[in-house]
Amino acid sequence: MRRKIVAGNWKMNTLPSEGLALAKDVIAKSGEVSGDVELVIIPPFTHLSEVTKLASGTRIAVGAQNCARWQSGAYTGEVSAAMLGAMGVDYVIIGHSERREYFGETNAHLYEKIKQALANNLMPIFCCGEKLDEREANRHFQVVQQQVEESLFALDEGNIKQVVIAYEPVWAIGTGRTATAEQAQEMHAHIRKLLANKFGSAIADSISILYGGSCKPSNAAEIFAKPDVDGGLIGGASLVAADFIAIAKSF
Ligand code: PGA
Repeated sequence: MRRKIVAGNWKMNTLPSEGLALAKDVIAKSGEVSGDVELVIIPPFTHLSEVTKLASGTRIAVGAQNCARWQSGAYTGEVSAAMLGAMGVDYVIIGHSERREYFGETNAHLYEKIKQALANNLMPIFCCGEKLDEREANRHFQVVQQQVEESLFALDEGNIKQVVIAYEPVWAIGTGRTATAEQAQEMHAHIRKLLANKFGSAIADSISILYGGSCKPSNAAEIFAKPDVDGGLIGGASLVAADFIAIAKSF
């Protein structure tokens, strides 16, 4: 049985006091969501210390939005996976398209970050997805294949089982333009097949693959109903607790 996961990526939004209020609101409403859905909130680094304390003992897991690809040392401005783990963080997003686009993160860097995350007991949420021109050129399967192969295929079997994958077509992120449930399903099935060919079908069938990109209460149920969609990575709609919870109730 694969885990169902709904994760809220707050991106660079909320001041600490606002973030704490949002986290409290999500925790207060979390009882409305079926017990078999894992809820994850992913605030900015500056809020993690307080939010992990708040979430401790509740059903809410906490994630970070990024980590360094090095263990420690002279890397000004970076935050290590060890620091996150020590704060009680459970998950870390690796390779969000905004990090690839604005911070030059490559598939090879992302492999290093995943190794750091796993070495520090964090579960990586590895993001992949094509840009609009790549989909229009009918290269989307190939682009995602390369991302998955170059960042995940050097992992061993023990490690790959800890990874959560998020398929996020770049043209759907923050645009209001969602992939259709069919487009999500066919890419998720493609990713699962790649994993099965490399790691075997038992492992591939155990890995949760989330959809991300303009997911909202009005479209989540249709997308989550697809057999290879195991939940969502939610951006904008995760900033409103009621919307985030409504999405998680769509399973
Ligand atoms: P969105 O963002 O839901 O605002 O489109 C999703 C994401 O970037 O993870």
